[in-house]
Amino acid sequence: MSVAASGYLRIEASNVDAWMDFGTDVLGLMDARREDAQGARFLRLDEHPFRFMIEPGDGDRLIAAGMEYPTAAAWQATCDALAAAGHEVTPGSAEQAKRRCVTAFASVKDPSGNQLELYHGRELDYVPFNSAAGVPAFVSSYQQIGDLGFGHFVLPAPETEATIAFYTDLIGTGITDTLYPPGMEGVQITFMHANNPRQHSLALFNGPHPAGVVHIMVEVETMDELGRCMDRAKAAGSHFLATLGRHVNDNMCSVYLLAPGGIAVEYGYDGLLIDPETHVATVSTEGDLWGHEYSFPGVNE
Ligand SMILES: [Fe+2]
Repeated sequence: MSVAASGYLRIEASNVDAWMDFGTDVLGLMDARREDAQGARFLRLDEHPFRFMIEPGDGDRLIAAGMEYPTAAAWQATCDALAAAGHEVTPGSAEQAKRRCVTAFASVKDPSGNQLELYHGRELDYVPFNSAAGVPAFVSSYQQIGDLGFGHFVLPAPETEATIAFYTDLIGTGITDTLYPPGMEGVQITFMHANNPRQHSLALFNGPHPAGVVHIMVEVETMDELGRCMDRAKAAGSHFLATLGRHVNDNMCSVYLLAPGGIAVEYGYDGLLIDPETHVATVSTEGDLWGHEYSFPGVNE
């Protein structure tokens, strides 16, 4: 296993300004204020140059997820293994790498069609994190700046078994937990960790999703910061997709909000850290210790 962390997300937004307002005013992320020829804007949550690239487009969906490798050699070995297994691996140009603030990257699709950008050599500019909403910090570091990744994300994986194998055998994740949520016949969510202590860096849902991502998660350091975000979300009129609750497997105490355009964002604190070398994969038949009552717009709100 060699993938280091979930590094960044590229998100297509039909209203980039609205997404940025949500990102800064409600979530408390930092506008990186970077110029971009293609009209993208960038959100930071730590010393990394950006964690979310918000790109203008017709829809609201995940474009690609950036996965970080610890060395050029580990990255190259992964690209070679993917190509040898018959996957189309497309190297990024120097100009495209510069836009992503990485030394090199390559694009590949998983068997369910999710686009990944595998990279190594992220540039750190050490600009201090400064949240206009007053969030002191997001949880992204353990032993080294940003080594826990930005948080986690959940991908649709209708080609479930092939997609799980793609990540465990080729990308380099380990399975942390497999959840069969009660009352949701046939639903399976496979939680996976990278080579860092975050309990899961990504998860796979065994069905399709129109946004190309089931949810993304960012983590703050205290209950009070979560509560303050809930106040900001209420004041901004954000839709709460789920009430406050605590997950069983990563212990995350969180709420779920809908970003403008409909991508779900989990905002949590108190996430579990594991030893990725010794973790024993579990199977859960309950998703939450308490809370997390869902209200889908137009369905059961
Ligand atoms: Fe989550």
